[in-house]
Order: sequence, then structure tokens, then C-alpha cells
Amino acid sequence: MKQYLTVDEWSIIEEGFHPHYNQISESVFSLGNGRMGQRANFEEAFTGETLQGNYVAGVYYPDKTRVGWWKNGYPEYFAKVLNAANWIGIDVKVAGETLDLNQSEVLDFRRELNMREGWLERTFTAQLASGKQVRVASKRFTSIVDDEVGAIRYSITPLNFSGTLTLTPYVDADIMNADSNYDEKFWNEVLQDAQANEGYVIAETKKTFFHVCTGQKFVVTQNGQEIQVDATPEERTKFIASTFKVAVQEGQEIVLYKYAANISSENHPKEALIENTKKVLVSAVGKGFEQMLQEQAAAWAAKWEESDIMIEGDATAQQGIRFNIFQLNQTYTGEDERLNIGPKGFTGEKYGGTTYWDTEAYCLPFYLATADPQVARNLLVYRYKHLQKAIENAEKLGFTGGAALYPMVTINGEECHNEWEITFEEIHRNGAIAHAIYDYIRYTGDDSYLAEYGLEVLVGISRFWAQRVNWSAAKNQYVMLGVTGPNEYENNVNNNWYTSTIATWTLEYTLKALQHVQSTDAARYQELVQKMNLNVEEETGKWQHVIDNMYYAEDQELGIFLQQDGFLDKEQTLVKDLPAEDRPLNQKWSWDRILRSVFIKQADVLQGIYLFEDRYDLDTIRRNYDFYEPRTVHESSLSPCVHAILAAKLGDEERAYEFYLRTARLDLDDYNNDTEDGCHITSMAGTWMSVVQGFGGMRVRDNQLHFNPFIPSGWTSYSFKIRFCGHLLNIKVTKESVTIENQAEKAIKLNVFDQPQTIEANSKGEFAHQLV
Ligand code: BGC
Repeated sequence: MKQYLTVDEWSIIEEGFHPHYNQISESVFSLGNGRMGQRANFEEAFTGETLQGNYVAGVYYPDKTRVGWWKNGYPEYFAKVLNAANWIGIDVKVAGETLDLNQSEVLDFRRELNMREGWLERTFTAQLASGKQVRVASKRFTSIVDDEVGAIRYSITPLNFSGTLTLTPYVDADIMNADSNYDEKFWNEVLQDAQANEGYVIAETKKTFFHVCTGQKFVVTQNGQEIQVDATPEERTKFIASTFKVAVQEGQEIVLYKYAANISSENHPKEALIENTKKVLVSAVGKGFEQMLQEQAAAWAAKWEESDIMIEGDATAQQGIRFNIFQLNQTYTGEDERLNIGPKGFTGEKYGGTTYWDTEAYCLPFYLATADPQVARNLLVYRYKHLQKAIENAEKLGFTGGAALYPMVTINGEECHNEWEITFEEIHRNGAIAHAIYDYIRYTGDDSYLAEYGLEVLVGISRFWAQRVNWSAAKNQYVMLGVTGPNEYENNVNNNWYTSTIATWTLEYTLKALQHVQSTDAARYQELVQKMNLNVEEETGKWQHVIDNMYYAEDQELGIFLQQDGFLDKEQTLVKDLPAEDRPLNQKWSWDRILRSVFIKQADVLQGIYLFEDRYDLDTIRRNYDFYEPRTVHESSLSPCVHAILAAKLGDEERAYEFYLRTARLDLDDYNNDTEDGCHITSMAGTWMSVVQGFGGMRVRDNQLHFNPFIPSGWTSYSFKIRFCGHLLNIKVTKESVTIENQAEKAIKLNVFDQPQTIEANSKGEFAHQLV
């Protein structure tokens, strides 16, 4: 745990340079706009510890995998969102000496990520080896208004000398992924074109042939006045630059405004890339940095208006939750159904920027509640568009008849994860994708989604489950053998309760969905039955038979669901008895020891109880929570949020808060010692869930919202906004009461502390806390 960042409600601030934490800061201070993003690398040269990262959404490379022993059914590659052209680069020479903070004395340093307005600023005074001192202030953003553009204002002032500054703004696409499996570069040269004060590089990804054009254009001012500089262009393989010199007097400020565009063949014809990049840059220069920045601030204000959570009385918690919301909004804007949310977003290479079950199981609720329904819908449509690939994926494993197995990890619908115990066995992900359809519909009321897209996905997944179970003559029930549940600390287990539960839930929901479409749109129903080649009677009959005869691992004596058949055979030790030096287990223990141990990586049975909470009484929930939580090491960042929500449900407010803090400041405090790889973007949505579903006790039941809030003892108040079926609500919880403001033009019926309430259009209801 590291606490070197200043607590501030709207900004992340590093006061003083922490070179050994630089890679952590590069992750934390990342910028993104859904279309492109980058780590907080320095503009000028830096020979210290750094992980360079610029990413363009949707542009990936299928890196040939490395596996020890090949197994049939493995995919050939692991897709990686590529480290792309470095567009921020500005080399600085001070009277011939390179400015490099690693080679200079840093007299002062401050870095701020302003979340309210969406920009990053770095100011420092450096003394070079020659004794010359310069003051630098650089401010930059990736625009959420013009999402192919980034802009930088880079200012330098000589403090104790007059002389010549040499500046070289450049674009470098000769870039390598740090995680390249065979030390291979993923980009091929297409063209480079450098002019006096502009330049363009087009690079092509190997194998996938995406073209990305990265362009730069710049303007220079001295003492606030634009000056013409005589720049010398330079072209190298996948690289362009323009170098100019300016004579400066002591105390005179030089500002370089650098505008950059990243345009990909995902969105533009290849032959028009240069022309379109030029257009985008001309428009950016025309607007100018200050106007673009104002537009950026206004666009962020609108995002905060919808998605902010305000916490009074605890600035640390406030900063934590805003950081999570900021990063989520930087990562996914929902404008493009081909895009998704990688576990590290645009902040690092780990996980390849690809899609996991994290999206459906953790991220969807955030976007459902805080953005236009189209945003969440696009996350669902992404999977619909991959249905055919999911069917092919299941076929590779021997399934037939349109059964669909969605990949554990994907970018284009194809599986790209290569560990048999996860690729073939961690099949619960299929259930999360089905559940997301249910969640979307109950949350938005948009049940036309079923007929349009949802039903086909549900049928594909249900067909898979119906084939994945088998009849056990011994048990006289269906069983599901050889699976890995969400707890990846045991593999190849039989009858993982969570997987079996979400499987039969999917079958039940698919039967209801079929009926719904049949009764609301008979023509479309017929069309779909034909399209899917669905033998209604036979297939739905089988599904019902599985639902009625499924075996679930349970222990009657303990009154708990069993994570899997053999769970109680394990030595029943508890996390509290583990020596501190053994943690985290995944770094300290052999894999063999982990697999045989009782220790649980992340919510598994409790994940199921969280999803299907209404099926269980409080005692059942408590028994399972009390059994599993003490055996859980929470070594996945996705774990604490589910526990926070269940702890809150069980009235354990202190534990709920503890779990919340673990996710909310996970990256800010580098809790797991791994933020340098990138931020934990998908678990950030879990932080939001901890507040809204945990502390706010928000649930959707029978098409209505329910709130059962409490307030953590250190907070004065907190408030959040929720969209629900066309309503917009602002919920504020204080120590005394809960106020719900209905900001929509129609009344809403909801439940507060289990009492039905109606709040008229544009009015508020105030409800006192219940004494327990
Ligand atoms: C977790 C998975 C998750 C993945 C990506 C793993 O550590 O166990 O549940 O999907 O990380 O976030």
C-alpha cells in the first residue's frame, strides 16, 4: 500500500516527484476518451522507469500464444490492444542539453489529473547538469468532444539563463508492446510525411491490417504572441518530427501547442486516412487549445451531472469513488457497439484490452444507471454480433445444433485464452451474458430487445447448457462435471454450485423469453424459430427437464450451498490463520498448493447469492456468507464489491465499508502492488455497486426500485443519481433521512425501507431511517 497522492475531492495530485512510483503514476494519471487513451508518460525524453502506452480502441494484434503443451480446442492467438503511436512526444534541448528528469535535479514537481474537467497537468522546475534551470508546465487532454484528437500545451521558461531552446515535437509509431510474446514489433510501415509544422505517420498492424494514421500540427507562442518558427522536418521508419530553435531570454515563456489526431481504418476508409487526419487537425487548430479545453470541461460537466456520487465528510472516499467513475467514463462511452471494456481499459497492456465476463457481471449496472440506455444496449449488441463466433467456438469443443459458448477472453468474438481449465471450463461466463440481457430489460423496460437480439443469444446459451450437463444414473439427476467457477483457485471441479445455478436460471429465463416474444410479436417469433432452427417442443422440453432435475451441491448440516462436490473434503483452514508472509497466495504459494487449499480467490457461491438474492432468506444468506467469506482471500479485484453488498444486506455496515474502501482506492493506494501494470477498470464498476447497491441498498424487484440505505459512520451524507425506466432520480442519504428527488416528468412508484411510496413528477420524498 502506498499513500503518496494528495487527497482532493476532484483531482488526483502528486506533489514532489516519486521516480520509483512513476509507472504507478503513469497508470493512475491516464487519460482516455473511449476512442483512444494513454498512460501519463512525459512529453519530453525520460530515461527513468516508464512504461510507454498509447492505445487506439478496437485496433488489435493476434499475438501468437505461448503455451507449454498444446491442447485441441486452444485458440492460436491472444488478442492485444496494441501499444500504438506515441503522439505526445516533444524532445527538448536546453542550449544543446537534453531535458530529461532522470538526468536533472528536480527542484519541484506537481502532477494533477483534474477529473472534473478531464485534463492532466504537470509542472516542474528542473536543473540540468549545466546548472541551467527551466520551468515547465504541460497540460493535455484526450478530447471527449472530438474523440480522435488530443491536445497539449507545453510551456517552458528559462529561469537563470538566456539562450536557445530546441524543440522537436514528433510522432513515433515504431513502438513495441512490453508484453509481446516473441519480442516482435506489431506495426508495419506504410508512410510517413513530415512538413515544417505538421506531419503524419500511417502504420499498419501485422496480420490484422488495421491502418492508423497519427498526425501532428503545432503552433508556437512567445510571450503570448504566436511566432513563426523555421522547423526542419524529419522522416524515419514509422516516425516523423519537426525541429525548431527559438532564442529565449531569461524569464520569457515559450509555449508549444501540439495537436494530434489518431484516426483508424476502423472508422475511415484507408485511402482517406491522411486527408481525414488533416481535416481533423485543421479543425482542432482552428478551435485552439483553450476553446477545446472549455468544450472538454463542459462535456465532462455533463458526464458528472449524470454519474457523480457525492460524499460529504470523507474526502478520501470522495476522491476514491470519483476516480473510479472518471476512469469508467474515460474507458467506455457506449458510442460504438464494436468496442468493449478491457479490465485495464487504456491504462496498460495487461489483459490485452479485451473483453471478459467482467463487462456483464460488473460493469453493466454502472452504465445502466448512469447513462443513456443506448450505452448499455451497445454492450449487449457487442455480444449479439459475436453469437456466430460463440457457436463456432462451442462446435470446436464438440457441441452441436447452435449451442453457443462465449469466450472467456475476446476482442472479435473468438476465444483467445489458452489455459484449458479456464478456456474450456470457466463456462459460467455464458450465464453472465444471459443475465445481462435480463438486467438490461428489467432496468430499462426495453423488452423489445428480446425479439430484436436477446432471444437468439439466450437460445444459443441455453442449448449449450442443455448439452453441457449430463444425466447421472447414480444421482438420478443432471450434473455438470469438470468446471471452474469464478474462484479460479480450484479447477476441474464437479457441480460448481454457481455455474449450475446460473445455467438453470438461464434455461428458465429463456423459456420465459420465448413465451414473451411469442405472445407480443408472433410473426417475429416464427421468424426466429425458423432462423434458429429451433425444435420448440423437443428443445424446450429438454430444458425444462434439466431445470426440474438438476443436482446442486449442498450441505444440509451446515445449511450452505457447496462451492463444488468436494469442497468439504478440503482441509478447512481460515484466512485469519494464514501467516501474513504467505499473502498474496498467488505470489507466495505453488499453484498446486493453492488448488488443493480451501482458499477462495473471489466470490463464487456468494456471487450466485448476490445475483439471485431474492431466492434466499436472510438466514441462508448469512450462513453462506459466514462460511465462505472467512475462506476468501479476495485476490481478484472483483471480489470485495460483492462482499460489500452482501455485508450491507446482512447489516454488517462496518465490514461493508471496509470492503468498499478496498476497491475504491485500490489503484490510488496501489493496494495490490500491481497498479503499475494499469488500473483495475472493471472492478471500478464494482466500487460503484458497493455504494449504490451496498450502502444505498438499491435493488430492482417486480419492475420497481427498492432502497434500503444506510450511511457509513464517517460520512455526513452521500448522494447518487439513477436512471430507471425513463426516470431520473437523485438519492441523498444523510444521518437522519433519505431524500429521493424525482427529476422526471412522470410520477414513480418505488419502495423505501420496504414501504411502497409514490414520488410525483419533479418532486421529492423524504424518509426517516428505520430503527433496527
Ligand atoms: C479474475 C476473473 C476476471 C479477470 C479479468 C481474474 O483475475 O479471476 O474473474 O475475469 O481477472 O478481470
